[in-house]
Amino acid sequence: MNLILLGPPGAGKGTQARTLVEERGMVQLSTGDMLRAARTSGTEMGNKVAAVMDAGQLVTDEIVIGLIEEQLTTTESTGGFIFDGFPRTLAQADALGELLARVGQKLDDVIEMRVDDEALVSRITGRYTCGSCGEGYHDTLKTPAKEGVCDNCGGTDMKRRADDNEDALKTRLMAYYRDTSPLIGYYYAKGQLTSINGLGEIAEVGAAINAVIEK
Ligand code: AP5
Repeated sequence: MNLILLGPPGAGKGTQARTLVEERGMVQLSTGDMLRAARTSGTEMGNKVAAVMDAGQLVTDEIVIGLIEEQLTTTESTGGFIFDGFPRTLAQADALGELLARVGQKLDDVIEMRVDDEALVSRITGRYTCGSCGEGYHDTLKTPAKEGVCDNCGGTDMKRRADDNEDALKTRLMAYYRDTSPLIGYYYAKGQLTSINGLGEIAEVGAAINAVIEK
């Protein structure tokens, strides 16, 4: 089972991907996480993309396709892959199809998570994550049982992303509507697209995703 979670920034792709990893043993391939890891480790590529990411613009196709190629050719996954934040352009979608064919795999589902722009702003500006394990939280929508302490690992180093501000979010949304939303038509035409309502409670959205996977 290989699937794409497609949706604007804040749609809940990362939140749902983490549940699929825990419940189904799938491997999450998030190009955003890979790029942030490259920045933190100070690689040449990480330094090159830092300003682009902070402004909310898209990193070049060449870089992200290279990252996915490396993961697909070196990672074993019996449960399959979840593509989170990739592909984001038509060129990336074509490249993914070719890469999967090359490693003898196929794409099973593309799940579009629909959320209106107002909800996205509130989700993004209130978001923070545990710096130790990556668990995601929100100032009001998903708070840890004990303030400042991660429910998952007990870590206390909570982090906010540099691009989680209203200005960068406007640019990210524009990039989504301009470059990524054409993928909805692309995968619809291939008969692989299912759209779900991403506005419900986290568990409700998860149930809708499970229903697509099990259909
Ligand atoms: P990336 O890291 O992929 O960010 P994104 O797509 O903007 O998505 P987010 O991670 O912001 O949101 P999400 O949908 O995962 O939502 P989440 O689950 O966290 O990309 C960052 C940057 O990297 C890009 O701008 C670009 O520069 C670069 N990049 C990455 N991939 C690229 C590519 N392929 N090509 C080119 N450039 C690339 O949820 C958000 C919040 O809402 C959380 O607080 C969560 O707790 C809460 N929440 C989630 N679901 C619900 C719910 N159902 N109800 C209530 N609250 C919820």
